[in-house]
Amino acid sequence: MSRNNFYDSDGLFKEFTSIRENKVNFNDLVETPILFSMLPDLKNKTVLDIGCGMGQHVKAYAEMGAKSVLGIDISEKLLAIAEEKFNGKNIEYQMKSFEDLDSINEQFDVVTSSLVFDYVQDFDRLMKDISHITHVRSQIIFSMSHPIVTSYDQSIPRWTRDHDGNKLHANLYNYFIEGEKHFSWGGTEVVNYHRTISSVINSIIQSGFTILECRESLADEHLRKVYPEVFAGTIHRPDFIFFKCIKL
Ligand SMILES: C[S@@+](CC[C@H](N)C(=O)[O-])C[C@H]1O[C@@H](n2cnc3c(N)ncnc32)[C@H](O)[C@@H]1O
Repeated sequence: MSRNNFYDSDGLFKEFTSIRENKVNFNDLVETPILFSMLPDLKNKTVLDIGCGMGQHVKAYAEMGAKSVLGIDISEKLLAIAEEKFNGKNIEYQMKSFEDLDSINEQFDVVTSSLVFDYVQDFDRLMKDISHITHVRSQIIFSMSHPIVTSYDQSIPRWTRDHDGNKLHANLYNYFIEGEKHFSWGGTEVVNYHRTISSVINSIIQSGFTILECRESLADEHLRKVYPEVFAGTIHRPDFIFFKCIKL
């Protein structure tokens, strides 16, 4: 198991798969609808999904008419689920790190990634590697945790709450201190990387991509009303940021 393969540790694997299986989750109700609304027409396109996890998006892209979809991830356990449940004739999965994109000898029409780039230490290099496996007019559409969220430090709570525990406002801390962050999830010590919004944008620009659209996540009013304990806080703070970029 590679050093950063957190999702194969028993606790995190159990926690992540149960969150993804729960009908009320941020991925399916907030993140994915925004990401999918930013996709170009995938008909007859070659698609790469970086950090595909269990392959739900890979399968969806194939069903949207993609010519081929390659999903890569470093988690053996998540890929095993992908192979079993989200397979198809134009779908392929490979166990590969986003640090090894230079071993891919193909140029994709569309590259996607959902909530994976938080784990990238060298974002400049990643964007340049993506540029090498795309051609002029290829697009990349990706989401990541919003920098307002990754600036979190365990020394202060994420939220200021009222006496009943309702979220009053989000706390922002050390936004300008970029770099490695540690947190515990499912009993596993996870490492991710905080970078400011301007750093993200400048890496995109320097890799030769042009930003077509940027979005920030907000759960819709219906979700905020029906599941306030889960989604009401999204009015105060975006959890995710999304970019759609084109290589010109
Ligand atoms: C939050 S999950 C998202 C999974 C999937 N995109 C989804 O939407 O369900 C983050 C994923 O990033 C993958 N990941 C983490 N580090 C990686 C690396 N170095 N290379 C490839 N995938 C990685 C994890 O194994 C995990 O599947």
